[in-house]
Amino acid sequence: MYRETINNFTAYSFMDLSSLKPALFTNNTAFDWLYPERVQQLSRRHWTPISIARQAARFLADAPGKRVLDIGSGVGKFCLVGAHYCPEAVFYGVEQRPELYHYAQAAKLAVQKNNAHFIHANFTELSFDDFDSFYFYNAFFENLDDDDRIDHQIEYSVSLYTYYTRYLYKMLDSRPSGTRLVTFHSFEEEVPPSYQTVQISDDLMLKMWIKR
Ligand SMILES: C[S@@+](CC[C@H](N)C(=O)[O-])C[C@H]1O[C@@H](n2cnc3c(N)ncnc32)[C@H](O)[C@@H]1O
Repeated sequence: MYRETINNFTAYSFMDLSSLKPALFTNNTAFDWLYPERVQQLSRRHWTPISIARQAARFLADAPGKRVLDIGSGVGKFCLVGAHYCPEAVFYGVEQRPELYHYAQAAKLAVQKNNAHFIHANFTELSFDDFDSFYFYNAFFENLDDDDRIDHQIEYSVSLYTYYTRYLYKMLDSRPSGTRLVTFHSFEEEVPPSYQTVQISDDLMLKMWIKR
């Protein structure tokens, strides 16, 4: 493993992934080794497990060239797993925390997935017209949850939760009929009634939706 500093953030990448390669996209522990230890420790709680990311990506990338946006992409796990299993689609991740964005970029370099792209921004700065389908792993919940936060670098508040949730609701409601959405651990407050569930996991946490 080597360390490099990108814009003041230390990123870790593997020059030689050969020992991990067979398991990289099937085993969460192997995948998480792409990141520093602090990021690995956040994985179980904050990053999408590989099996979920694979199912969600296959649903969202239902035709070649589909542009899939992960709203709050963290260290890029959903996008990189999606890019691996759906090579004909393009995955975009938008992330507000610069440190996590840089780890996503470093992991992308390490696994060489050119159909994954990361954007450092608040999701409210993006035009949803640039994407066809959307993945949402309850990104705004951190505003309500005092325990188990990723860090203490940003402002949290109930009003931010409400603002982001309403904003996303409006954006999703304005998408064309046939738009696909996947939610994971969502309260569904951001999902307009124009979206219908077409698949639900047994534990009810993973839901796949299509806009009427
Ligand atoms: C639960 S994590 C999910 C990460 C990733 N989607 C995955 O599944 O592995 C949610 C992420 O959303 C980011 N986030 C929360 N609100 C955001 C916003 N308004 N704009 C961009 N990113 C945001 C957080 O910083 C965090 O990294």
